[in-house]
Amino acid sequence: MNSVLTSILIMPQKIIAGNWKMNLNYAQAMTLADAIAAGITGESSCEVILAPPSIYLHDVLRRIGHHDRISVASQNCADREPGAYTGELSAMMLASVGIDYSIIGHSERRIYFGESDPLLARKVDQCFKYGILPIFCCGETLDEREQGVQSEVVERQLRQGLFHLSEAELSDCIIAYEPVWAIGTGKTATPGQAQEMHSLIRQLLRGISDSVAERVSILYGGSVTPATAQEMLASQDVDGALVGGASLKADDFLSIIQACR
Ligand code: 13P
Repeated sequence: MNSVLTSILIMPQKIIAGNWKMNLNYAQAMTLADAIAAGITGESSCEVILAPPSIYLHDVLRRIGHHDRISVASQNCADREPGAYTGELSAMMLASVGIDYSIIGHSERRIYFGESDPLLARKVDQCFKYGILPIFCCGETLDEREQGVQSEVVERQLRQGLFHLSEAELSDCIIAYEPVWAIGTGKTATPGQAQEMHSLIRQLLRGISDSVAERVSILYGGSVTPATAQEMLASQDVDGALVGGASLKADDFLSIIQACR
């Protein structure tokens, strides 16, 4: 096959993921999962990933298991093998109930729970050991953006947390760029700011190999709403979105999925 055709055929998968964080009671979570599953039509070609709180993972999976376009992610996983670690949830356990993805390195885990780059690298390794694919988050704080060091911060997070993987493993990862100053603030990055960082991430991936760069989906996260999604998703290197607040309302989340064409 000639290289033009190859480059047309290999493109990152479009993905809209909903991170429910520590929200919703059981009944609300099940109602939301059902409404999202019922609302996804054949029109959009993007993959949908739901990341409910751990305690609801299994039931959400059972409710949407029949749906071939929706997968389930945990919001976290342990950096070690099963054992005497009270309160932790291992990648082995996630895999054993059929979870496909795990969000790793969300800024809320880095900031509130002190998760470091080396710890995140170990979590990523646990994921791969048990066949869970990481949705690896990176992004700078407001302070770091004001100092103009956002590119260095994101590059360090990726090199230390993710780039030790083999090419084959890296190709299976999803990266989410989530500037901390845009999370839950209603202050979304401009499409230009997102594209600039996504293009830098793509370039870093290209430094590993062209095929990795062409396969890895790079999602934007930070105050994505139905009003902002279309413009954000139109940027060349924005392959989808990791949505927080707006993923808690079925109508809003479904509108964002609709915007992903
Ligand atoms: P918001 O969409 O609420 O800003 O959250 C983004 C996020 O952190 C997704 O992981």
